[in-house]
Amino acid sequence: MSDKTYPPSAEFTATAHIDAAKYRELYAASIADPAAFWGEHGKRLDWIKPYTKVKNVSYAPGNISINWFEDGTLNAAANCIDRHLATRGDQTAIIFEPDDPAEEAQHITYTQLHKRVCRMANILEDMGVRKGDRVVIYLPMIPEAAYAMLACARIGAIHSIVFAGFSPDALGARINGCDAKVVITADEAPRGGRKTALKSNTDTALLHCKDTVKCLVVKRTGGQTTWIADRDYDYNELALEADEYCAPAEMGAEDPLFILYTSGSTGQPKGVVHTTGGYLAYAAMTHEYVFDYHQGDIFWCTADVGWVTGHSYIVYGPLANGATTLMFEGVPTWPDAGRFWAICEKHRVNQFYTAPTAIRALMAHGNAPVEKYDLGTLKLLGTVGEPINPEAWNWYNDVVGKGKCPIVDTWWQTETGGHLLTPLPGATPTKPGSATTPFFGVQPVVLDPHTGAEITSTEAEGVLCLKDSWPGQMRTVWGDHERFEKTYFSDYKGYYFSGDGCRRDADGYYWITGRVDDVINVSGHRMGTAEVESALVAHAKVAEAAVVGYPHPIKGQGIYAYVTLMNGIDPSDELRKELETWVRTEIGPIAKPDLLQWAPGLPKTRSGKIMRRILRKIAEDDFAALGDTSTLADPAVVDDLIENRMNRG
Ligand code: WT7
Repeated sequence: MSDKTYPPSAEFTATAHIDAAKYRELYAASIADPAAFWGEHGKRLDWIKPYTKVKNVSYAPGNISINWFEDGTLNAAANCIDRHLATRGDQTAIIFEPDDPAEEAQHITYTQLHKRVCRMANILEDMGVRKGDRVVIYLPMIPEAAYAMLACARIGAIHSIVFAGFSPDALGARINGCDAKVVITADEAPRGGRKTALKSNTDTALLHCKDTVKCLVVKRTGGQTTWIADRDYDYNELALEADEYCAPAEMGAEDPLFILYTSGSTGQPKGVVHTTGGYLAYAAMTHEYVFDYHQGDIFWCTADVGWVTGHSYIVYGPLANGATTLMFEGVPTWPDAGRFWAICEKHRVNQFYTAPTAIRALMAHGNAPVEKYDLGTLKLLGTVGEPINPEAWNWYNDVVGKGKCPIVDTWWQTETGGHLLTPLPGATPTKPGSATTPFFGVQPVVLDPHTGAEITSTEAEGVLCLKDSWPGQMRTVWGDHERFEKTYFSDYKGYYFSGDGCRRDADGYYWITGRVDDVINVSGHRMGTAEVESALVAHAKVAEAAVVGYPHPIKGQGIYAYVTLMNGIDPSDELRKELETWVRTEIGPIAKPDLLQWAPGLPKTRSGKIMRRILRKIAEDDFAALGDTSTLADPAVVDDLIENRMNRG
């Protein structure tokens, strides 16, 4: 790890919202009196009924309860659209850049956004959606995805987006998981020159859902779809008729805004619940300060709206701030590795936010695709999703930012709603690979993983927890508050446990060292090893499976699967392919194992527990020091696994 420090330039600091002195002052105030601090900053939203209570939080075992601005009422869509109409109705709210560069980009003004969201809200109401009902969104990265989110917010329905790369099985499980009334999809999703048949995936998913679930279909490509009368609704046709005004529902600050399923250490993804007031205030405030967003800037976050990054930093944060936000439908490397930079030039992007995996993939194509374009409008670069290796950081800084754009390495999670550890670009000297220091109101602590005690020395290494709450924090697991407590508040009582390990250096900077649970990070996407394992063992020829992560040059971590076949089944390349396809259909392409090793047996303790530590070492091609193997039931198993390991450096 590099410890070279990059202080903010005087030029950047001169116009920045927050400089070093201001950061210190506001941070101290946010910790000394959170209620006073957030009482003030909650005012960045328009409230129908202003709150009088700011914070009401308990992390006490058996009573985990998180409330912010609880007696206030507001509407998230009105905050993202209506309140901007008087001052910036004609300003572009969303720039849409399609997958195919030959297709024209769209500029959607706040006034247009208002009408389109209202129309979609009216369509949903006509389909029977009411306050508190759940709507699943399974769409490409098209403006209608944002309309759908905001339409739900407008009428008080709770949206749950399922990433368009997930399989019909995964979609069906999520529709059932939150008991959705409607699923919104499109005919097809163009991506990287290929098309995914979303409507047909939805048809398959709905075979396993209640037959009352309705489907609203957006036309994207005009591709062929099967139509089921009385179940399928044509969005484009209905939008022609729908009223262009829909009154925003008055929602409590603690009414759920959305559910987003994410992987954990058990087989079942959990529905992370975010509520309206605290989430929106936190997404908006971090968007403004972390990216140093100024009015008129063009902001581009390359994430998909299927992940929390897209929720907070494509839609809710930017639009609450009256920003211009860019939505890109495609991928970084199609038609060629210059696509990101072509878009930055074309739309004069000022802030650019992407993932280390994309940076590494583009870095592999050299500097020429970047240098072809004029990136002079860029003022700031951001990264998120996994630790960024110093080589990638330096390339991003030198080649993309030409040494003049601060880099914000933002650490956060689906559960946190917004950035928790991050530089503020006009205030914080950065170090390549470190997410640096906490945002306002955030109190990170490093705990000893064995004793659970807080390590109070500045230099520390252990598990990363958060003391006390912040407004953007998740409130519960959908339908399972007990699981919420068990997952985040039971290993270390009195703290929110992030699941990440970290190191704090002598300057108090945080360095994320990766997950300490059975979650792996593949291209910035979180994957539960147990989820992949249960998909594998659901195959008739598989007796047992164990999945671990291993270092992957582009993806950060790759998926390494050890598979034990049923008696009498022989391993073969065809079977390997069959299992890969199986996992793709069970979960989605992102869960496909990168390496799959046939394992005659798995290393287990005498009590039958799989020794994952050993499997990780072998997958890392680092088996010289396997540590204590004395508790193994059958040590010979390990020799076979080493002998036939798949990842040879
Ligand atoms: C996990 C959360 C938050 C949006 C993207 C992923 C890892 C995230 C960083 C970073 C090091 C990071 C952590 C975290 N992570 N950002 N800047 N440096 N690690 O959201 O799917 O909820 O995953 O991603 O391990 O726990 P997510």
